[in-house]
Amino acid sequence: MAESRGQWGSRLGFILAAAGSAIGLGNIWKFPYITGENGGGLFVLIYLVCIALVGLPIMMAEIMIGRAAQKSPVGAFRALSRPGSPWALAGGLGVVTAFVILSYYSVVAGWAMHYTWLSLTDTFAGRTPDEIGAIFGAVYGSEEINALWHLIFMGATISIVIAGIRGGIELWSRILMPALFLILLILFVYAMQSEGFGQAVEFVFAPHAGDLTAAGVLEALGHSFFTLSLGMGAMITYGSYLQRDEDLVTTSVTVSVLDTAVALLACLVLFPIIFSADLEPAAGPGLVFRSIPIALSQMPGGMVLAPLFFLLLTFAALTSAISLLEVAASYFIDERGWSRTKATLATGGLITLLGLPSAMSGGSRMFGQGVTDLTAPLLKLLGRDAGMNWFDFFDYLASNWMLPIGGMLIALFVAWRVGDAAREQAFTAGTRFGRIYWTWVFLLRFIVPVGVFAVFLHAIGVI
Ligand code: TRP
Repeated sequence: MAESRGQWGSRLGFILAAAGSAIGLGNIWKFPYITGENGGGLFVLIYLVCIALVGLPIMMAEIMIGRAAQKSPVGAFRALSRPGSPWALAGGLGVVTAFVILSYYSVVAGWAMHYTWLSLTDTFAGRTPDEIGAIFGAVYGSEEINALWHLIFMGATISIVIAGIRGGIELWSRILMPALFLILLILFVYAMQSEGFGQAVEFVFAPHAGDLTAAGVLEALGHSFFTLSLGMGAMITYGSYLQRDEDLVTTSVTVSVLDTAVALLACLVLFPIIFSADLEPAAGPGLVFRSIPIALSQMPGGMVLAPLFFLLLTFAALTSAISLLEVAASYFIDERGWSRTKATLATGGLITLLGLPSAMSGGSRMFGQGVTDLTAPLLKLLGRDAGMNWFDFFDYLASNWMLPIGGMLIALFVAWRVGDAAREQAFTAGTRFGRIYWTWVFLLRFIVPVGVFAVFLHAIGVI
């Protein structure tokens, strides 16, 4: 069987694809806005600690599991444990999480597509920051716009996943991710010269104790999973298309560093614009869509850069969305023997349906206020003081709870369930960094589970 599975075309191909999965809306849309909501520096610091001590070891664990088992999550857990073992459920949780995340992720990708269109048709030129902000409000509130782009984005994701590993995912990542990085650098040079730059650097890097809450700590932890595509088996799946002698330490470090660099760069592009234009850093999910058009409507060449920026953001979302759909589809391919086309159409179709309420959360009473009222009591128990609409609730549930739980299970599985000899062999195969093996095991055994658990208890108010 192993011979007939897809494989990456080259080692660089894997790194690019893994980075393509990691780098996405999480970095450019979500990280800046949750940094803004959580008061800046201290949140960023906690996030960086989570990446280094929790995210990085789990990424190594996921790639290792996939590479060793050459199977997608459910099959990989099965292959590495006893027959009938409940560990397969941890893989199952990952498949469910993929459905939840992609369903609303696609809606945000739709905003990026819509903004590509709006900037191509010159909607932002000559507008005040307030008017540009109002445009986002109108987009957010429109059920038609959101549903339409959601359908288009899911269609694109489904088509690429049907095309398979090498032809689809790898090719896209190879060209478009470097282009996105370049355009962020150009915007960064521009942002550096703006008057808000100093204030932005201070906001992002100086840790002020002030606004950070227990819920904020949980959010930093959850986001470190979300941004590195961890906790639901995406990296297990990608690792399963990897040959057994690839270096998993170098690969994981490279992907994490690139991902973090893009997230911080995005903050250093957005916050100078926000402070220069006197906007609110805690403006919520619309932050990137409210701020980037302001800068680009004033900047020389902005007419060209604006559509390019949103187009590349769309592509970054696409390379991430592909990895989410790949997890869902590969379960049915590997475990149920479905054809790639059938599995992808079925899972992708279901996710599209599941995403429609998210697409309508800003405009419909039912999925907006209705769900907000419905979720309020539950969220009180989970340490939040208000309800959320369907879209926000899905994002909250998936990234703050499902991913950390999934990641903790992966850590526990690798650290305690997989035999010592097999684990050491699987970790050290192909890497020059075999000597960090015990550090890695220690992090997975103790730091990850205790840390994640403590953050959970803290968030629900027990400690
Ligand atoms: N990491 C991606 C981002 O930052 C989103 C993503 C893709 C993801 N695949 C994932 C998140 C798997 C969690 C799990 O935009």
